Amino acid sequence: MREEVLSLLPPDHPWRDKFVFLPEVVSTNDEAKRLAEAGAPHGTAVLAGYQTGGRGRRGRTFQSPPGLGMYLSVILRPGCKGENLMHLTCAMALAVMNGVKEAAGIMPQIKWINDLVYENRKLGGILTEVATQPDGEVAYAIVGIGINCLQTARDFLPDIREMATSLRIACNQPISPGVLAANLLITLCETAEKLLTEKREIMKAYEENCITLGKEVQIIRGDTPYCGFAVRLDENGGLVIKNEKGTEETVNAGEVSVRGLYGYL
Ligand code: BTN
Repeated sequence: MREEVLSLLPPDHPWRDKFVFLPEVVSTNDEAKRLAEAGAPHGTAVLAGYQTGGRGRRGRTFQSPPGLGMYLSVILRPGCKGENLMHLTCAMALAVMNGVKEAAGIMPQIKWINDLVYENRKLGGILTEVATQPDGEVAYAIVGIGINCLQTARDFLPDIREMATSLRIACNQPISPGVLAANLLITLCETAEKLLTEKREIMKAYEENCITLGKEVQIIRGDTPYCGFAVRLDENGGLVIKNEKGTEETVNAGEVSVRGLYGYL
């Protein structure tokens, strides 16, 4: 897979020399974090063929069978305060959406805040983890991306079979994890370069591709789910909802999970 990725990356791509492939890891986010703590530079990317402990948001697992999915984590050192990086997950979701389009020729959409969806099913997700210094400066951010590539419906475990899809199912042809990874490295790098200077444009594009907006949603905060209507996003990617009393409130990805009222979306 390493050779496949490198053969598709332009020779002068800024992240090319920092690309690491590992056949098996617990989690590429954990590997990337270990490398970042040891001083690995901006743009270091870890791709794995198999994760034994792939992680999703809010403590969930991310099914990561060998050879079927694309498991990639990138280290970013954006050189800013944490408060200026609240839009990171949105920006990276947009980059992943564009990378999938380049690699597979299909246009996925985004379910707030970090899920890639295609025809109402989950294609993959993004797990961002940010380490800040005591002065608020970002030491590094890890952007972990998992996309289902070669799975058939039977490859998904029963708990997610009804709501998951893969690029193979979506395109009706195999799209290899290596091809996708190379395309993602290109779109992630482009987005990382404009992350701080084009925040407004990035958030506008995210909003245009976010299927959660304009829908009734269920907010799951602690043990008490409640309903609302997803109105818009704030400038940091917080979801502004109108609750049942008609009052607007902003929910942040760290504290809630959002579900459609009628199933996964
Ligand atoms: C989610 O669905 O909530 C996010 C899933 C993120 C999965 C990717 S796979 C590569 C990286 N390593 C992990 O352990 N998680 C992310």
